[in-house]
Amino acid sequence: MGSRFAIFLFSIAILSTSALSDLFISKLDRRIDLTSHIVRVTSTLKVENAGPGVVSQFMLAFPDYQAKNLAYLSASSNEGKGKTKGSTVILPIEIVQPEGMPPNLTFYSVNLLKDLGKGDRLTLDVLEVFTHSLEPFPKEITQADVQLVLFQDSALYLSPYQVIVQSLSVRVPSPRVESYTKLQNTKFVDSEIKYGPYENLPAFSYNPIIVHFENNRPFAVAQELIREIEISHWGNVQVTEHYTLVHGGARNKGEFSRFEYQARPTIRGASSFKSLVARLPPRAHSVYYRDEIGNISTSHLWGDPRKTELEIEPRYPIFGGWRTSFTIGYGLPLQDFLFESEGKRFLNISFGCPMNEVIIDDLIMKVVLPEGSKEISVSVPFPTKQWQEIKYSHLDIVGRPVFVLQKNNVVPEHNMHFQVYYKFSNLSLLQEPLMLILGFFFLFIACIVYMHSDMSISKSSASYLAKLQWDEVQATVQRVQNIVNRCLLVHDKLEASLRDLSRTGDVQACKAARKAADGLLKEYAKELKPLLGFLQSASQAAHILPKVEELISKEEEMQERLMLKHSTVVDCYEKKSGGRVIENRVAPHQQRLTALRQEVDDLLEIIDEI
Ligand SMILES: *[C@@H]1O[C@H](CO)[C@@H](O)[C@H](O)[C@H]1NC(C)=O
Ligand SMILES: *[C@@H]1O[C@H](CO)[C@@H](O)[C@H](O)[C@H]1NC(C)=O
Repeated sequence: MGSRFAIFLFSIAILSTSALSDLFISKLDRRIDLTSHIVRVTSTLKVENAGPGVVSQFMLAFPDYQAKNLAYLSASSNEGKGKTKGSTVILPIEIVQPEGMPPNLTFYSVNLLKDLGKGDRLTLDVLEVFTHSLEPFPKEITQADVQLVLFQDSALYLSPYQVIVQSLSVRVPSPRVESYTKLQNTKFVDSEIKYGPYENLPAFSYNPIIVHFENNRPFAVAQELIREIEISHWGNVQVTEHYTLVHGGARNKGEFSRFEYQARPTIRGASSFKSLVARLPPRAHSVYYRDEIGNISTSHLWGDPRKTELEIEPRYPIFGGWRTSFTIGYGLPLQDFLFESEGKRFLNISFGCPMNEVIIDDLIMKVVLPEGSKEISVSVPFPTKQWQEIKYSHLDIVGRPVFVLQKNNVVPEHNMHFQVYYKFSNLSLLQEPLMLILGFFFLFIACIVYMHSDMSISKSSASYLAKLQWDEVQATVQRVQNIVNRCLLVHDKLEASLRDLSRTGDVQACKAARKAADGLLKEYAKELKPLLGFLQSASQAAHILPKVEELISKEEEMQERLMLKHSTVVDCYEKKSGGRVIENRVAPHQQRLTALRQEVDDLLEIIDEI
């Protein structure tokens, strides 16, 4: 790290005398916010033209090591004079390469819209957003450690202009700071490190500072996010988002203990995160959240007229370096997002990711338009890569046009609206129903032809045997479901026996219930065995087998848990433990049991539908 700065300072020293223009900064306040894993720098600059020339550009300079992580940059000026606040104007910015400047710097030029004459002043507000700029140090930590990170910048504002008075404040998430660079005029108050004021510094002044501090915020990085927005003129906008998410903080080393984590999550897992909140548009409906295994029911959804919030909880807490993939999907009412203007329709919807404070390394946005859409164009408030594809689904003839936008390094500041314009004739809307009608017509003809042909199917034909096997598979699956349902009944009886125990205190009756249950469950397990064997050998069962096996194993796990719970309670009663003790000992089993029961119920339902 040191060497990077050394080279940099050296190059500035030899090259920095030529001034860009007669501008200077009379006052500068810079605030760096390090409370999340996205670094935000806001600056207020009072700019003045010493003359004599007229100036229309203002330059912002970044060392290359910062420029490569710069995700978002905006500059605005307030038109109002004095105390009366006018409207804020966002100024256009472009990347430039002015001549005769020091190397290792990236320049952006802000177009001031109005020329500044001699003696004219202007106040600029600049927002810079950086990703991947907090370096975990140490790079690897255990489950029990907090996460420490390094941040580096300059205490002096790096600018091609002279700065008369400047100050900097660096806000950290908590007062727990390992170390920070101390210069002249440095103060540490609450969770803020203040540098300055510093006066009369020439252009390209630079003085490196490093802050080493605790930051346990979720370092949620989507290495890839594919958002698909599909428009159906029948009234729906369907959004599907595929995430590949990683914890971008210090890597977790050593064993992960779920027990330790569950006992004291804030201590044994301070650097991890276990849930994320997505802010969806109001009136979002049919919301789901699933991963490779299936639907995850541990998500919470709530909403008001302005927004819908979805809290998702992956199956395990995410520690540094861990990865998880999942999909969320939801429908939106068409009339909230599709509008018409000048003979064209347009979609107006938010660009970025609905999750709070997530960095997206690579965002791919696919807008799927109805079949027959023409003259497609897009308006996005920042540069993106763009191309078109075609998507086919059933009943499509020529396929649906897909407009794809791609952008790297996306932050919440990019959650702006963008528009996709296209032309569409309402006749195209009739295409699908027409095809359905035609389809049924041909099916009808085909049936008539079939009825008149030879109906006999040879008893030894492959299709006949396949049908026989399929019937048998179905019957077997049904028997498995039956047995599982009977097991669940036994579980219910056992639970009832525990309730009786708490009422009557009759330990013997409870033990007897347990014995009966053990016997029944053993019998059922014996019955299951050949059924499972058959399914494993039947080729026709291949697609249903994984779910059936999952069902059986989940149910077995439930049995084990329930027995543990049962023994625990009986044991407590025999030892005459208090209600509090029983509750504490039973709680972890109970939690798992509830979750398992939900999973088993879900599986039974899924298998029903196959
Ligand atoms: C998951 O949930 C969604 C929405 O509730 C539903 O449409 C889908 O069929 C479910 N999938 C599975 C595999 O249960
Ligand atoms: C898109 O929607 C946003 C938010 O509702 C609105 O502010 C903006 O004016 C809309 N843009 C267009 C082009 O209609």
